[in-house]
Amino acid sequence: MFSTSKKVLVVAATVMSMGSLVQADGGAAYAAGGCGGCHGATGKSAISMYPHLSGQNAAYTVKQLKDFQSGARKDPTMNAMAAMVVGKEQAIADWLAKQ
Ligand code: HEC
Repeated sequence: MFSTSKKVLVVAATVMSMGSLVQADGGAAYAAGGCGGCHGATGKSAISMYPHLSGQNAAYTVKQLKDFQSGARKDPTMNAMAAMVVGKEQAIADWLAKQ
């Protein structure tokens, strides 16, 4: 039997490793989605037409992606691009917030 403190440690370690998996998934989904072509490999856009995404608050980024998906925010390019990362919004946003 584990003592309570050991159980807490095991749970904490599991949550931490899940967190880093989500991070890796977010970066991979961003790369696979072709987002870096416009927004830069780590969300720092080299092209003035396109916004920087790095360091942005994750909740804001998630909302923008969902609004592009629903059509509440209209931009022909991003309406199409956001549709390619359905279900990955949070992972991408968390990853971008840390770049
Ligand atoms: C072909 C270029 C292009 C690609 C590829 C692209 N974007 Fe964008 N993105 C834009 C443009 C242009 C805007 C600004 C849209 C507007 O004016 O509303 C934008 C805006 C955004 C915003 C809102 C930023 C803000 O500050 O409100 C987010 C978030 C975003 N893109 C994420 C992504 C993600 C994630 C991907 C990959 C799935 C992606 N973009 C792929 C061109 C692109």
